[in-house]
Amino acid sequence: MNKNAFRQLSYGVYVVSTWDNGRATGCTANSAMQITSEPATIAISINHDNYTNKCIQDTGKFAISILGEHSDPGIIGIFGFKSGKDHNKFDETESVIRGYLPVVADACAYVVCDVIDRMETTTHTVFLGQVVDADVLKQDDPMTYAYYHKVIKGKSPKNAPTYIAEEQPCAETAAGAKYVCGICGYIYDGDTPFEELPDDFVCPVCKQPKSVFVKQ
Ligand SMILES: Cc1cc2nc3c(=O)[nH]c(=O)nc-3n(C[C@H](O)[C@H](O)[C@H](O)COP(=O)(O)O)c2cc1C
Repeated sequence: MNKNAFRQLSYGVYVVSTWDNGRATGCTANSAMQITSEPATIAISINHDNYTNKCIQDTGKFAISILGEHSDPGIIGIFGFKSGKDHNKFDETESVIRGYLPVVADACAYVVCDVIDRMETTTHTVFLGQVVDADVLKQDDPMTYAYYHKVIKGKSPKNAPTYIAEEQPCAETAAGAKYVCGICGYIYDGDTPFEELPDDFVCPVCKQPKSVFVKQ
């Protein structure tokens, strides 16, 4: 099986959010698709090990914040490389309440759903949600998964359904050195050739300091 074929599938980049006993939480997800328009129904696939999975099971509700190309890429890192089990992710990200659920304020649109069914796979739960509210928040092009990989140069962690084990960072800086974020896989690919990253360099995706970058 050539898993590169899977890379030809198209996705967006979203934050799936819900409540955890009154505390807002959620995770980055690329797996969301509209199943039917009447009644409007959306499916998402969330890993069993993600804290968000348990919270959606408990509340029976989830929101999808659709990130745009101008949304802060740091949101993807906060929600995609930390767990709500031990992080208050929404403390680091401005939110608004829509349809009684927390939504990322910097998203270009949102959809709020009631869970109406679910299907278990060996690793992920597919939640089927009936849409109870949706709206556009600001004019922007929705971020595609391809944009996340090619322009933001982000990587997908193990719990993403699209994770490919052999996925390796491969871009090079102009100087020929590669600086790869050890947390999210972001590759520094600057225009200026220099040997070292500046001391105050912060990963634009997951906001980690220079110290987590590995020169290759
Ligand atoms: C670009 C990207 C896409 C992701 N897509 C999914 C997804 O569709 N489903 C999923 O379960 N996890 C996905 N993840 C991984 C979760 O966001 C990640 O495991 C997160 O830390 C889980 O947080 P939680 O424990 O608070 O739920 C993705 C991560 C990234 C960065």
